[in-house]
Amino acid sequence: MRHSFNQRFHNIVETEDLVFRYEGGGPSAAIFGLSVGIEKGSFTAVIGRNGSGKSTFARLINALLLPSDGTVVVGGYDTRDESTVWEVRRLAGMVFQNPDNQLVSSVVKDDIAFGPENLGLPRDEIVKRVDSSLKAVDMYEHRNMAPHLLSGGQKQRIAIAGVLAMEPEVVIFDEPTAMLDPKGRKEVIDLASELNEKGITIILITHFMEEALRADRVIILGNGALVMDGPPSEIFSKAEEIRKFGLKLPFVIELGEELRKRGLDIPRGIVDDEELAEAICRFL
Ligand SMILES: Nc1ncnc2c1ncn2[C@@H]1O[C@H](COP(=O)(O)OP(=O)(O)OP(=O)(O)O)[C@@H](O)[C@H]1O
Ligand SMILES: [Mg+2]
Repeated sequence: MRHSFNQRFHNIVETEDLVFRYEGGGPSAAIFGLSVGIEKGSFTAVIGRNGSGKSTFARLINALLLPSDGTVVVGGYDTRDESTVWEVRRLAGMVFQNPDNQLVSSVVKDDIAFGPENLGLPRDEIVKRVDSSLKAVDMYEHRNMAPHLLSGGQKQRIAIAGVLAMEPEVVIFDEPTAMLDPKGRKEVIDLASELNEKGITIILITHFMEEALRADRVIILGNGALVMDGPPSEIFSKAEEIRKFGLKLPFVIELGEELRKRGLDIPRGIVDDEELAEAICRFL
């Protein structure tokens, strides 16, 4: 199926009948028959059990992997087109689990300059981007520090600034908080929401269901295919299905369900702590 120019740009990322098999990866494909559009400016959480294909999906968007079959189109560019692969990687930046693996320099600001330098940008443009990216992640004051002296959450914010310096349209986070303490986790997820409010498309792969609640859309992958897709309140109201896909419910929803079992008439679809607290208070 061909898409019009407008449709393509409505969806900043679009996959169609996407299949990906790892070499020596056995008979089953890591991604199989995945057709999904990610709307420009949206915030999508991608969840699914271990091995369901989340990281593979992320790497296919960023052209680190190329489809075995089907297509991935990012910002109008087919990721298989060699002449635009660097533009695809610039448009779709990735943030990985381990911040230490993403930092390359011994001084924070040099780390941010690394990407723009590789783009061959003029010096003053590089300086401008380094400053604005560090400010966007609230790490400007730490610009002359050594990254290894920072906390995990701060390091991850530096990694995010490095991506922002490339002026991406989409930032794909692959379990960015898995190695962080609760404070670092909050810093990174709050930042993802903030970037989304500024218009950047966010794709957040996570094992933390509380983080998925921050998105405006949740996609569940199972065996490399799309098994559920909808707003968080709708997705997490289907407790049985969620469990079937090897996932837990966010605590606020779990608690709501337990209270209903005990006879309290808590409305379904509450995904927010405060809303739940108010609903409980009405019974006291
Ligand atoms: N380099 C590889 N070579 C062969 N098979 C791979 C490779 N990387 C991943 N796979 C397989 O592809 C499937 C999807 O893996 P992927 O890493 O995308 O899943 P995931 O959802 O990110 O899992 P996790 O939650 O553990 O991060 C799994 O069956 C996995 O074993
Ligand atoms: Mg993964």
